[in-house]
Amino acid sequence: MQTHFRSTMCGNITPQDVEKRVKLAGWVDTRRDLGGVIFIDLRDRSGKIQLVINEESGEDLFKEGEKIRNEFVLSVQGTVVKRAEENINPKMATGELEVIVDTLTILDTAHTPPIYIEDTDHANETARLKYRYLDLRKPRNQQVLMTRAKTASIVRKYLEKNGFCEIETPMLAKPTPEGARDFLVPSRVQKGKFFGLPQSPQLFKQILMVAGMDRYYQIVKCFRDEDLRQDRQPEFTQIDMEMSFVTKEDIIPIMEGMLSEIFKEIKGIELETPFQRMTYQEAMARYGSDKPDLRFDMELVDLSDIVENSDFNVFASAVSKGGKVRAINAKGAQGQLSNRALKKLESFAKIYKAKGLAWIDVTDGETKSPILKFISEEEKTAIIERMSAESGDLIFIVADTDEIVCTALGQLRLELADQLELDLGDDFKFLWVVDFPLLEYDKESGRFTAMHHPFTSPLEKDLPLLETDPKAVHADAYDVVVNGVELGGGSIRIHNQDIQERMFKALGFSTESAWNQFGFLLEALKYGTPPHGGIAFGFDRLIMMLMGIDNIRDVIAFPKTQNHSCLMSDAPANAELDQLIDLGISIDEI
Ligand code: AMO
Ligand code: AMP
Repeated sequence: MQTHFRSTMCGNITPQDVEKRVKLAGWVDTRRDLGGVIFIDLRDRSGKIQLVINEESGEDLFKEGEKIRNEFVLSVQGTVVKRAEENINPKMATGELEVIVDTLTILDTAHTPPIYIEDTDHANETARLKYRYLDLRKPRNQQVLMTRAKTASIVRKYLEKNGFCEIETPMLAKPTPEGARDFLVPSRVQKGKFFGLPQSPQLFKQILMVAGMDRYYQIVKCFRDEDLRQDRQPEFTQIDMEMSFVTKEDIIPIMEGMLSEIFKEIKGIELETPFQRMTYQEAMARYGSDKPDLRFDMELVDLSDIVENSDFNVFASAVSKGGKVRAINAKGAQGQLSNRALKKLESFAKIYKAKGLAWIDVTDGETKSPILKFISEEEKTAIIERMSAESGDLIFIVADTDEIVCTALGQLRLELADQLELDLGDDFKFLWVVDFPLLEYDKESGRFTAMHHPFTSPLEKDLPLLETDPKAVHADAYDVVVNGVELGGGSIRIHNQDIQERMFKALGFSTESAWNQFGFLLEALKYGTPPHGGIAFGFDRLIMMLMGIDNIRDVIAFPKTQNHSCLMSDAPANAELDQLIDLGISIDEI
């Protein structure tokens, strides 16, 4: 990357450059003034190189060198030399070399930075995000952004090779009350009306299929006004795709191919394809999660038949009411969890609506458990056998509706893996979760909502049940999960207007409200729609996975905090009164 200011980059200097003159530009990473000689590590995006300024360089140059402080921006010229044996720094990629400076220009001075510009810096996140431009000077953060760019480029090349056409869809779109909350943008020209920033380009990409574009993709910003978690941001990026004349058997291998290419090029790992597949029902029953982490076992085991007639009413009544009693075995966990820790785990299970958490501490000769006095010896023995429990193991049991049991134990399974510091290895366990329920019942609103979105096709075999037994209908949907993270999700879409209207009815929409909200899609479906389907990957989550980073903020150049602020630019901010008047908006005093 030659420019007026440099002939090469700091990190690109190799032993082949010894004796050559180079021109470099960058930031002062460290500076040591040893009296007669000044050592500077000069940093740019490619890495660092040691500069040497000594008294032989001339008085003026040396004086200028003495002014240099950390983070000054320099342009230098000099000769590359091998360092003396005792000065070699094995921790630095260019640690065998240095540049003897003969020309120096201070391009800009710098205040003392409020955070250390080192990968090992542990300044609190508030400071790091306020001074994000300094935080981003850290080599690791620069590597993340460069990996992001490289991954996007691999994706583009792969998709273009496979016939996908990149098409932009609007950011100023129609608000959609389904799904997460929208970010609204007031219209000045049509006062009182609002655009919604897209939660995803779902409708537009489907309409592009009606338009005959056949294969669409976009690396696109999506906006969702939802509470943030470790892997959620209000604005995030999707790799969004849609294809015509396909079933999921066409889509899945193309996506596996894309992920394989990314993992090969970025991590040098060959993924094993096809990925494992599991139905939603199996994932819930075995792992208590629709995004199971397959790096460890600790599977849920059904004990309902063993305890259905138990004297312990908690168990017997759960089963008689149609619920379940299931358990997990934390192998060898005994001794690692104090009574206090067990109590805490019970409180943890209660977050997920379990009413209690029973445990059995399996020890040859003296098994301990708070429920021993309630269950019979035979039940105890049968449970231990079913759980393949050995001395030293801890069994955790929950009785309730199946949904609560699976969710609570699924979460407990993850919590235990964390607390017991299970060795999860460095494998990527990819998995497709398929056959999701089409609908889920929302107790609050007293109606069904779409588990994926309202445009997802029911499995053809279940179509007749849409009116008679909606809960039993499965969706032709698929999620790709890796190590317990939902990386992407998609589905085959409804391409027939009648079925789309039946779906809206099942979701409790009147024909009028469905047309009000989604009329443009329903209208489009009238004019010849190919069978189509697609998927979207969370691009930020993909980068987290590739870089082994567990906080989404660390893979985004300018992320938002928990309360949706950008600490650097101070967004969101008050609007000027004039702007509000223009928009016809008045704000109540808060
Ligand atoms: P879905 O809502 O499952 O599907 O989103 C697809 C993927 O996007 C990522 N994701 C997020 N990442 C960061 N922050 C968020 N707030 C966030 N929300 C979602 C996840 C998720 O798997 N239109 C459909 C896709 C389709 O059917 O083609 C959709 O948006 O990794
Ligand atoms: P209790 O009789 O409510 O004091 O409960 C006795 C034991 O059973 C305690 O260890 C509780 O944690 C456990 N327990 C209570 N309810 C449940 C439940 N629904 N599932 C599993 N264990 C439970």
